[in-house]
Order: sequence, then C-alpha cells, then structure tokens
Amino acid sequence: MNDNLQERKVKVNLGERSYDIVIGSGLIDEIGLKIKPFVSTKRIFIVSNPTVLNVCKDRVCKSLKDAGFDVNILEVPDGESYKSLEIAYDLYGQLIKHNANRFDTVIALGGGVIGDLAGFVAATYMRGLPFIQVPTTLLAQVDSSVGGKVAVNHPKAKNLIGCFYQPRFVLIDVDILQTLPERELKVGLAEVIKCGFLSGEKFLVFLEEHIGDALVMKKDVLIEIIQRCCAFKAKVVEVDEKDFGKRAILNYGHTIGHVIETITDYKKYKHGEAVSMGMICAAVIANRLGLIQESVVERHKNILKKAGLPIELPQMSPENVIKHLLLDKKKRGEDYTFVLLKDAGEPVIKNVSFEDILESLKLCQ
Ligand code: NAD
Ligand code: GLY
Repeated sequence: MNDNLQERKVKVNLGERSYDIVIGSGLIDEIGLKIKPFVSTKRIFIVSNPTVLNVCKDRVCKSLKDAGFDVNILEVPDGESYKSLEIAYDLYGQLIKHNANRFDTVIALGGGVIGDLAGFVAATYMRGLPFIQVPTTLLAQVDSSVGGKVAVNHPKAKNLIGCFYQPRFVLIDVDILQTLPERELKVGLAEVIKCGFLSGEKFLVFLEEHIGDALVMKKDVLIEIIQRCCAFKAKVVEVDEKDFGKRAILNYGHTIGHVIETITDYKKYKHGEAVSMGMICAAVIANRLGLIQESVVERHKNILKKAGLPIELPQMSPENVIKHLLLDKKKRGEDYTFVLLKDAGEPVIKNVSFEDILESLKLCQ
C-alpha cells in the first residue's frame, strides 16, 4: 500500500474518557475487528439514514457480523430537521423494544446530524450507552465526531438540548467520501480551512498547496488533512472539554456566519458556506483593529475561493445584522465577542464595537 495511505491514529486524552481516532482508507470493511476492543456485548445498534445506508450498509453489516456482532439498524430520515427530540424519542422506543441495556453499543454512521442525534440518544438512554462515531461527511470527520458535543435542535434554536458525551472510539474512512456531493465536501473544507488559520503556518501552507487535491478527493491528502484537524481539535478539547474557555476559538468565522444563516433563514447557505464568509469578515475586522496585515486577509480570500467557497457576503442591512447579533448567545454588554487572529495560529477572543463590525461588513459585501 502507498505509505501515505497507511492508517493514522490520533488520541484524545481525557483521563478515563480518552479515546482513539483512527483514520485511513478501506477501514469500513474492517469495522468489526477495529471496534471489538471497545465493545463489551455482542449487540450493536447502528443509527443512520437511508442516504448513508445506501452507500455502505452491506459492507458495514458484513464486517460487524463476521466479527461476531448482532447488528440492529435504527434508521431515521435524512435531514437537519430530524435532529429533534421527537426522533430521539422514537429511537428510545426502538431501543426499549429491543430491550437494549447499558452494555450494548450505539454506532453513529453518518454525517454531523446523525452523530449529534445518535450521540444524544446514547448519552441519555439509561444514563448512557457506549457510543462509537463513524463519520461519513468531511465535516463530521474533521469536526463534529471529535470532542463529545451531542445535541438535538429545539424549534427556537439549533443544538439547544444536549450534553458532552465522548465516544469510545472514532473510525474514519476517507473512501466513504467518494459518494459525498461536491457541495458537502466544500462545506467540510470550510471547517478544514478554519482549522488551518487557527492551528498555524505549517498546516495553513500545506492547505494552500493542496486544497485543489482535496477538492478532487486525493486520498493521501484527505488523510493528512483529517489527521491534522483531529489532532488540533483534540488538543483544544483536552484543555477545555466543557467549552468554558479556549474551545471558543473553534467558533472562528461563526459569529457573522450565524448572522448570515439566520438572516437567510437557513435556506440559501450551508453552514460551512456561512462560516467561509464569516471568516472573511473576521479577517477584515482584525485588519481594521490592526491585528493582522492586509496580506492575511488576502490569504483568507485566496484559499476559500480555491476551495469553491463564497467569499462575498450577501447584502444585509446594518439594523438587521445588529438585531441578529443581539440575539447571539455570545453577546457581552454593548460589544460583541469575536474570535480574531493576530496571525495564523494566534487566535484571540475580543470584544468588537458595533461601528467596527458594520464598517468591516461594508468592505465584505
Ligand atoms: P449532514 O449530516 O446533514 O450530512 C450532509 C448530507 O450528506 C446528508 O444528506 C447526508 O445524508 C449525506 N451524506 C452523509 N455521508 C454521505 C456519504 N458518504 N455519501 C453521500 N452522502 C452522504 O451534515 P454535516 O455537515 O455532516 O453535519 C451538520 C451537523 O453537524 C449540524 O447539525 C451541526 O449542528 C452539527 N455539528 C456538530 C458539531 C459538534 O461538535 N458536535 C460540530 C459541527 C457541526
Ligand atoms: N464545533 C465546535 C466545538 O466542537 O466546540
């Protein structure tokens, strides 16, 4: 095998809640043997949706059955709107029907929606079942499957009902991305690029050189990127698992990103696209405040554009932006908290005035 396709491992060190993330090519076919050390009973409950099951159900089930597991599939409809308490309740019902107990294992097989929902159900059914993440979108592989945030949405707000519940193991197979729609791949690349700016020059330069290879799903490049993102996120989560401090840096680009998503009613842009524009705005603010040079703003634009992500913000009236910022949970006093960069790899959390936000926005539209 090409050396660059060799399996990689990232450890998340959280004391008794520590776990490994393995990343490679073809791992789905070995899932049974890979998870065996982390599973104490024969019974496995796979939570997934029809789109993902269509792509890999037979291979996953064969490998698990060959390894001696009894496999039950709990299917939920595909879509963010099904990351809900109603669907969680339905899943509890299915677990009860199978007499599931605290030693059986839940596998989340899907993107971030499935990971968050299955993780929430695993965390709460009988006060917690062992849980394994098998992320199948790039976004889930580089972000949502790592760090233990699990949740369902409330009609009033996304991810409002949830908790921290770490998986026992994360298995990442880049081959599974071959069927991912291109737009979903780009959405994942937005979070990858975010990680590049947060983690520092070395990874950022790698991305600047290889983002085109990622777009055409060159496997060795994807493995390298996923490993670096997971390792970066693991380090952040290890120092601030419950999100009281440093973990907030992972929201780079998200403050204005959320405003764009809500103003456009979550219809026009996908989350990663909004984050892409949010990062541009954050870079322009940082430049206005004298934290970074214009050249760093240009680096944002160049790499996000190369990844096929939007870099020009939609027209939004100042009143509307302020109204939505006021609703933002990160509001503090009269100013607004932003993650900004002092340089690649040097994020800072800063209060920014209305004036600086609105003047910067004008330069981004
Ligand atoms: P998603 O789970 O909706 O997946 C996107 C689409 O791709 C879906 O239609 C899905 O069925 C399909 N899909 C998944 N894998 C596929 C494959 N291999 N081939 C073909 N199609 C495939 O979206 P997402 O972007 O993965 O996740 C978004 C969710 O993640 C949001 O709910 C967000 O709140 C959550 N999230 C959570 C965290 C966290 O830390 N827990 C972090 C970021 C995002
Ligand atoms: N995706 C943000 C976090 O995990 O904290």
